[in-house]
Formats: sequence, structure tokens, C-alpha cells
Amino acid sequence: MTRADLGKDRHDIAAMFDGVADRYDRTNTILSFGRDRAWRRATAATLDLRPGEKVLDLGAGTGISTVDLGRSGAYAVGADISLGMLGVGRRVRPQVPLVAGDALALPFADASFDAVTISFALRNVSDTSAALREMARVTRPGGRLVVCEFAHPTVPLFRTVYLSYLMRSLPAVARRVASNPDAYVYLAESIRAWYDQRALAAVIAESGWSQVGWRDLTGGVAAMHRAVRA
Ligand SMILES: C[S@@+](CC[C@H](N)C(=O)[O-])C[C@H]1O[C@@H](n2cnc3c(N)ncnc32)[C@H](O)[C@@H]1O
Repeated sequence: MTRADLGKDRHDIAAMFDGVADRYDRTNTILSFGRDRAWRRATAATLDLRPGEKVLDLGAGTGISTVDLGRSGAYAVGADISLGMLGVGRRVRPQVPLVAGDALALPFADASFDAVTISFALRNVSDTSAALREMARVTRPGGRLVVCEFAHPTVPLFRTVYLSYLMRSLPAVARRVASNPDAYVYLAESIRAWYDQRALAAVIAESGWSQVGWRDLTGGVAAMHRAVRA
């Protein structure tokens, strides 16, 4: 298995991320022109974590997104379905608590967290609404959600240039720098097929969350949706 199709079977997805784990952090930064760092900072700032709060970083992968959250003094735990990604994370970030867990059946009790976040992972889960409901289940009433995900650029000319990068240049660059280039063809296709910002906000609002809003990042290449546990 090298490339998950868009059916998003969880075993295929886990195997695909196992295959990119070794070079994931570096490839990510190259393909996003370093913007991933700013997007992670924006996510952490929007979560507005306080010392002592508990936050779940779902789809944490190597823990690259979890590390920033812990800097607030909150207790940040990452969960992921790919043992390969978790293994790299435990090696390069031994200070970050990382556990194996599926977004559709989280290994946590109801209302365990003050906040839950998921960055660049919700798109990979086969049932978006079920994952959002599962995130609501483990969040206390009044707790916060921040979803950071690829989105759809809002300015038409920029959208055309971006789609050309996504479908042509990104797979070509990935062939040079990634450990499983096919995974980056899946990445491009899954971004193109993903909800636009308004549609994702509607799914979040129907899945146990209230006060849903969003902010575009880098002209809508990514977007950050926030919500409060109803
Ligand atoms: C693109 S990586 C994002 C990693 C990290 N959050 C970041 O911002 O770089 C997506 C991660 O989501 C994980 N993932 C995909 N489906 C999942 C599921 N059903 N449950 C938990 N994690 C999942 C993958 O294993 C992968 O590590």
C-alpha cells in the first residue's frame, strides 16, 4: 500500500502515514514554503490555552503540532492512528505525550479535555461529522475546538495558480524530497475534494458544536475553524 484512495479506509491511511513518517516534518515545511509554522502558531493562539488546562491534539502525527500547545503551560496530549508517525514523534520529541487512537473511537472518557484541536488531519478521516461528534464527546461543555485544515483560496486568480501548484508542482517536488511521493498525490487530490470554508463550518455546527467561525490563512490555502462545545 503506497497511496490511499479517497475512500479513506483507516488502515490504508495509517499505512500511508507510516510510509511518510521519517521525512514528514521536513517535507511538510518544504511543500508549504514554511507557512506550516505560522499556521501552527495561529492555531495555538486561537486555542488561548491556560496553564493547567488539558488539550487534545488529534491526528498529532509526529507531535509537531502538539509541541507548540504545551508551551502555554497546558497539558497537551497527541493522539494518532499511525504507529509509524507516533514512533518518529517519540524518538524526536520524547517530552511530548503521544498515544495511539482513532478519531472515530477516541480512547478518552467523556468531557476529559478543556480544548481539542486537529490540524491537517480531519480531511483524512472517512466520516468528518462522526469525528467532530467524537471530539465533542471528549470535550467538556463550554470547551473549545480549533480545526486547522487546507481550504479553498478565495481570490479567483490566486486559486488558479494555487491549484496548478497543487496538482502539478507539489507531486513533482514530493518525488524529490518525500519518502513516499504517492502520498503527496493523494494529498493534492484530497485537498481539492475537501469542503470549502462555509461548508465545513456547517458540518461542525451540525456535529455538537456552537459559535462556529473561521479565519482564512494565507489567502485561504488553509483555514482555521473555531467552535465551542454546545
Ligand atoms: C497530515 S498529518 C498532520 C500531523 C500534524 N497534526 C501536523 O499538523 O503536521 C495527518 C495525521 O492524521 C492522522 N490520522 C489520519 N486519520 C486518522 C484517524 N482516523 N484517527 C487518528 N489520526 C488519524 C495520520 O496518521 C497523520 O499522522
